[in-house]
Amino acid sequence: MYIQTALASLALLPFALCAPSQPPSPQPYYAYPPTQAITTLTQGGYKFALTIDSKQWSNLSQVMTKDIYYDSSALGAGYGGVSVGIDQVTAALEASAPEGIYWEHLVTNLYLEKLNTPTNASSITYITVSRWDPSALHDITKTYRIYYRCDDQWLLQDGSWKLDHSIVRNTGPRVEAPYFGSSS
Ligand SMILES: *[C@@H]1O[C@H](CO)[C@@H](O)[C@H](O)[C@H]1NC(C)=O
Ligand SMILES: *[C@@H]1O[C@H](CO)[C@@H](O)[C@H](O)[C@H]1NC(C)=O
Repeated sequence: MYIQTALASLALLPFALCAPSQPPSPQPYYAYPPTQAITTLTQGGYKFALTIDSKQWSNLSQVMTKDIYYDSSALGAGYGGVSVGIDQVTAALEASAPEGIYWEHLVTNLYLEKLNTPTNASSITYITVSRWDPSALHDITKTYRIYYRCDDQWLLQDGSWKLDHSIVRNTGPRVEAPYFGSSS
């Protein structure tokens, strides 16, 4: 792509020389504008959340790569861990949200740090996860909220951005149990 970019700039050169009053030709940086990547990455993040929140485990290959590395161990034992490869990640997600458990990943700020190549992007995403166990609403190990931030790398595969590498950190001091107060 860098070679193609260089060729594209060269192709514009004679035109620029013949018509010096024209606006300057686009800089190589704009050759694959990040605007489109921002939109499609944001959709990738939202689809990731929708897929896991609706427990569509068989759809995970649409939102993560086969070789995904996922490290949420910073969230603490019982809340996060390291999973390598889509099978381990799938097993960890299924174990976190079995039948009867509700959860929601609210994906907010998605900052495209760098388009490393046209098919590899680094981003920072803020996520709020809420998990509810209706039979244990006052047990912080089962019903909780966590604010966290992900340092991610995404790869563009089959026309969609898929999560390939993710390092999670808690942005608050610790897991919260805010939902139902302290009564009963
Ligand atoms: C899961 O994939 C199927 C087949 O592509 C699709 O119909 C369905 O909407 C997907 N579910 C989600 C939550 O994306
Ligand atoms: C994506 O780009 C990052 C930053 O250059 C690099 O560390 C990582 O290995 C790349 N991922 C793949 C799968 O090539």
